[in-house]
Amino acid sequence: MTHTVTLIPGDGIGREVAAATRRLVAATGVTIEWEEVSAGLQAFNRSGNPMPDDTVASIRRNRVALKGRILTPVGKGYESPNVRLRKELNLFAAVRPIKSQPGVPSRYRDVDLVIIRETTEDVYAGIEHRVVPGVVQSLKITTATACRRVIRFAFEFARAHGRKQLTLVHKANIMKQSDGLFIRCGEEIARDFPDVTFKTIIADNACMQMVRYPEQFDVLVAQNLFGDLLSDLGAGLVGGISAVYGLLRDDSDIHVFEAIHGLAHELEGQGVANPLTFIRPAVELLRHLGEGDAASAIDRSIAATLEAGIKTRDLGGEASTEGFVDALIARLG
Ligand code: IPM
Ligand code: MG
Repeated sequence: MTHTVTLIPGDGIGREVAAATRRLVAATGVTIEWEEVSAGLQAFNRSGNPMPDDTVASIRRNRVALKGRILTPVGKGYESPNVRLRKELNLFAAVRPIKSQPGVPSRYRDVDLVIIRETTEDVYAGIEHRVVPGVVQSLKITTATACRRVIRFAFEFARAHGRKQLTLVHKANIMKQSDGLFIRCGEEIARDFPDVTFKTIIADNACMQMVRYPEQFDVLVAQNLFGDLLSDLGAGLVGGISAVYGLLRDDSDIHVFEAIHGLAHELEGQGVANPLTFIRPAVELLRHLGEGDAASAIDRSIAATLEAGIKTRDLGGEASTEGFVDALIARLG
């Protein structure tokens, strides 16, 4: 069976690692027809739009996509194409599993938690204005509708994956209204899920607790900004960019598997970037397509390859992007 999947290589090293990932997936014997579309800097330079309509339409049509990192200008320039995409397709939940992976060097062992992040509002609404010179306002938007749907999504995720606890992250000691609303929605929805223990935690303490005792967490749900911060903190617990991926969901069946790290402009064109940033989401994409055997074969080959000491430079090895993928392919059987 051939699957049609939208592919957005993205910026920086995106094209190199996307090509390497395609070669690896093909080597598993799974046939995917990749509908490659563009987003980011290249698209912007060509059409003036970093998230072109036909890119969004392709995902809407295929219902499934694999997406690389897309550059978001810092402190100036166009609206983040990532945020644009989330708004256009109503991708309101980001699932970010934080799991120790065999062979990936990290400071902790056996970490296994999942961050569910709201992705449509909060300070990401991008509503900012200058009041007078030297005074700027950025608005944090919180609606009961968005709180409820992401919290319900998180509870359903916990239940579907046999997880026992959901921790809601907030800063309601300071943002009594917005984060207070988030907590109230959590308490309300928790009543429908008596099988999942519901807890709340203040965001700064959540950071300390995650670093100190990550095993106390199971599933976490957070609004947009804290979810962004916690997911990078979590990635740091399990060895960083080689271990994590993201999944964006709408309230229907759209699945966008994404690399959340690895722009690495300084490595662009050199063929030395770590392709695991793209391979991890591709593996989960395969599982979603019902190709679990191929996904597990790749997982095993990643562990065996890293354990054999074959690594890209960022992990202290010498392998090139393609050399690393050759080693993965050699260990697929
Ligand atoms: C992420 C990224 C994005 C975000 C950026 C690139 C806009 O950090 O997906 O975590 O902040 O959401
Ligand atoms: Mg982030």
